[in-house]
Amino acid sequence: MLLAQAPKAWPRLPQLKAPALPRTVGGKALHLRYQLMSGWGPETDRRGQSQGPELRTRVLVTALFGVGLGGAWLAARAEKEQRQQRERTEALRQAAVGQGDFRLLDHQGQARCKADFRGQWVLMYFGFTHCPDICPDELEKLAQVVRQLEAEPGLPLVQPIFITVDPERDDVTAMARYVQDFHPRLLGLTGSVEQVAQATHSYRVYYSAGPKDEDQDYIVDHSIAIYLLSPDGLFTDYYGRGKSAEQIVDSVKRHMAAFRSILH
Ligand code: NI
Repeated sequence: MLLAQAPKAWPRLPQLKAPALPRTVGGKALHLRYQLMSGWGPETDRRGQSQGPELRTRVLVTALFGVGLGGAWLAARAEKEQRQQRERTEALRQAAVGQGDFRLLDHQGQARCKADFRGQWVLMYFGFTHCPDICPDELEKLAQVVRQLEAEPGLPLVQPIFITVDPERDDVTAMARYVQDFHPRLLGLTGSVEQVAQATHSYRVYYSAGPKDEDQDYIVDHSIAIYLLSPDGLFTDYYGRGKSAEQIVDSVKRHMAAFRSILH
């Protein structure tokens, strides 16, 4: 089984907490609206009309109050999210994840190192082509994120990269065959056992090959996270399995906006 979640070596990374929903205001308005709707039924007609308009006013007032509070709440949440993102980025950079270089071969046999991707946004995932479920799912999600970002005018292109943690089986040919199933620009990277070990080490990626069965098949237990690198080559964020494509797209867009505001 593939059990690894976030890389284990990162010390005390700040976690983004889901903001609390405004249950009281929204819930009350909703409750009253249901009361109002049921009040329009034949039962009310028997009791008289007076209750209807009065209740409707109350509902309207409650709803307007809710809209006002909701707006303030949204603004506060946006500010909090921005602050949390800055803190998180700073903590990740201090952890110096991915500062090290890598030297690998792409799925067309070309030598690639980290400096080749300077100037580009990169989304990077580590896994292996024999992975039965998690890697295909995560790569499909990665491809979906890239397609969604491509569809938005004015955003820079994001380079998707898949680095194998199973260099024994994932040679250049195997990588070429595998990556084409996901996205036309997905770049597969492999190399010698030592080269892969160096690349994974510099991104704090954990991996461990399990025992071989009678068919010489084996599972590689590995960290599951999609890494975001900014055009200055710095590790900017990471996304675990729990993050949806939409959440990743939103986060990447926020990082792009923050990066643009630093430059200008
Ligand atoms: Ni996997």
